[in-house]
Amino acid sequence: MKILFATNNAHKLSEVQAVLGDAFELLTPRDCGVTEEIPETQPTLEGNALQKARYLHARTGLDCFADDTGLEVEALDGAPGVRSARYATDGHDFAANNRLLLQNLAGKQNRRARFRTVIALILGGEEHLFEGIVRGRIIEHETGDEGFGYDPLFRPEGFDRTFAQMTADEKNATSHRGRAVRQLAAFLHATEK
Ligand code: IMP
Repeated sequence: MKILFATNNAHKLSEVQAVLGDAFELLTPRDCGVTEEIPETQPTLEGNALQKARYLHARTGLDCFADDTGLEVEALDGAPGVRSARYATDGHDFAANNRLLLQNLAGKQNRRARFRTVIALILGGEEHLFEGIVRGRIIEHETGDEGFGYDPLFRPEGFDRTFAQMTADEKNATSHRGRAVRQLAAFLHATEK
């Protein structure tokens, strides 16, 4: 089955494809002629995921899904949250975001945080939402070279390594996105039968 996924981020695409398996062929917006930036202007992860999926569905008429992820840090009242991509600057500057996060947590005892992913699926014109959460802590220094974004600063509960010190398979097994995508996969497999 072909399904359109609202991302041009190669990392995300391969993470999601690995979890969904060969039964699903992921198309990107570019594959479907959508080259403009997909609007993402809502104040919540749910709102953004739905906004992106609705936009793509209106543009292409295809079954599609979109995700939105935020890092929610307890001592920062849930920031950066829905603003995770643009925490430090207007662009997706991972290094600047990580620097600002460490700066804002300097001297704070409570380093608890969670990643939360929301996926909005539009299948046969109907909307469905899925959520995946992983709890962990923000460590003091960037550690590891794998992954992307806040991965070098996030150590999931039950591990002594950050996401950036894990293989893609290890990260997928515990990550927010892995959890949300496994729910999506179970739903898609069930509706295919
Ligand atoms: P998006 O909504 O998935 O594009 O995520 C927004 C921002 O959250 C990204 O630009 C990254 O900074 C961060 N982010 C999302 N997923 C991850 C992840 O798996 N690891 C680390 N950072 C992530």
